[in-house]
Amino acid sequence: MSDQPLRQLADAPDTPFDVSLRPPVFSEFTGQAKVCEQLNIMVEAAKQRGDVLEHILLSGPPGLGKTTLAHIVANAMGVAIKNTSGPTIEKAGDLAGLLTTLERGDVLFIDEIHALSRVIEEYLYPAMEDYKLDIIIDQGPNARSVRLNLPKFTLIGATTRAGMISAPLRSRFGLPLRLDYYTADQLQSIILRSAGLMSVEIDEPGALEIAARSRGTPRIANNLLRWTRDFAQVRAGSKITRDVADAALGMRDIDSEGLDETDKRILEALVHKFAGGPVGLSSLAVAIGEDAGTLEDVNEPYLIMQGYLKRTPQGRVAMPSTYKKLGVAPPDRAGELFA
Ligand SMILES: Nc1ncnc2c1ncn2[C@@H]1O[C@H](COP(=O)(O)OP(=O)(O)OP(=O)(O)O)[C@@H](O)[C@H]1O
Ligand SMILES: [Mg+2]
Repeated sequence: MSDQPLRQLADAPDTPFDVSLRPPVFSEFTGQAKVCEQLNIMVEAAKQRGDVLEHILLSGPPGLGKTTLAHIVANAMGVAIKNTSGPTIEKAGDLAGLLTTLERGDVLFIDEIHALSRVIEEYLYPAMEDYKLDIIIDQGPNARSVRLNLPKFTLIGATTRAGMISAPLRSRFGLPLRLDYYTADQLQSIILRSAGLMSVEIDEPGALEIAARSRGTPRIANNLLRWTRDFAQVRAGSKITRDVADAALGMRDIDSEGLDETDKRILEALVHKFAGGPVGLSSLAVAIGEDAGTLEDVNEPYLIMQGYLKRTPQGRVAMPSTYKKLGVAPPDRAGELFA
């Protein structure tokens, strides 16, 4: 049995198998109703005018469907999509190489757009606004600026860290959209759809059990479904019921709310090592031997949503439900901290 923590499952690149689970059209995409409605209106309007879609920024925790939506949008517009990511665009020439291969209306998808360097951002502004790119060629006395005219294109940026996007970049997106965690009901439908595609036998309570333990995240739901399928195949005659799902997920130390080992270590450190906080993110990360960025992007948002942790200007603070979960009495100063 692998005991790979859930956090890594959420981070792991999509396997080819996962890609086939990726809904290709809006009608197969469950949840994020408001975001989908807005995207749909934009797509329809642009198509009616024969125009190119405005630039779009998608933000939200990993595995909620940003990449999927970018592909659905390109699909709906009937245009090609070119994929890249912030950290891989190092030089202006890299950006020029990408932009000059686009045709009118095409989508350039930049994942992790918060990781673009400031220099590249500066090049991107005129490309986004005026579809022009001024690049410097040669060095020293021969250096000269060359202006490239680009076709009108759509930039779709995705980020797990909306707060790290510079104001000038953010302001150049027509539509910033934020994805939220999914409800258990929505994840249940996603799991039933995936199970159908994978030809896995599952009943509705079985799907709901996996859904409730998937941290509001479709990617995790699909990963847990795959694990539960394996478990069912070897231990339970292949069919996934509520009891089978419970046993399979219990074996992975995923509790009834979807908290995994890392989450539990975070809460324990917060309460036992730092007396409930406030404690800075980096100290907390060091205490549990975890990367601060992962903690901030992957674990914290879910713990905050579940009401176990609060971000304050002084640092992270444990909430009353954290003490309850760990079975310890909250400190006397709780009133002042939870305020
Ligand atoms: N609304 C949805 N309905 C069905 N499946 C979904 C939905 N959203 C996401 N998925 C599934 O979850 C997987 C992860 O989604 P996706 O890769 O789009 O997430 P992401 O937000 O781009 O994550 P990251 O920030 O890690 O890049 C997809 O491969 C797809 O199978
Ligand atoms: Mg993605």
